[in-house]
Amino acid sequence: MAKRDRYVFICMNDRPPGHPRGSCYERGAAQLAERFAMLLMEKDLLGKVRIISTSCLDTCESGVTLAVYPDDVWYGRISVEDAEEIVERHFVGGELVERLTLGPADFE
Ligand code: FES
Repeated sequence: MAKRDRYVFICMNDRPPGHPRGSCYERGAAQLAERFAMLLMEKDLLGKVRIISTSCLDTCESGVTLAVYPDDVWYGRISVEDAEEIVERHFVGGELVERLTLGPADFE
């Protein structure tokens, strides 16, 4: 399989209910990954973008979190409704969806 243009790491970490940090899984990471997979298929991007499920990316309070490489762009607080905008604007158009990007405060 050829190297992809982008690798998208989506946190799928799951913690027990009531955990103080919460988890991306309980915030809908699985549904989001499923939506991304559908969109990549629909837009014929499977050969260019690879979705990878990961464990905790340590930005739990900003979850659902995903990291896009080699762009080194991190998105947070993403819902299923945001997936199409990220695919269209970032993966197709090459521009950031700035309202969803994580900043320095999210990594403290
Ligand atoms: S649980 Fe997703 S970043 Fe920690």
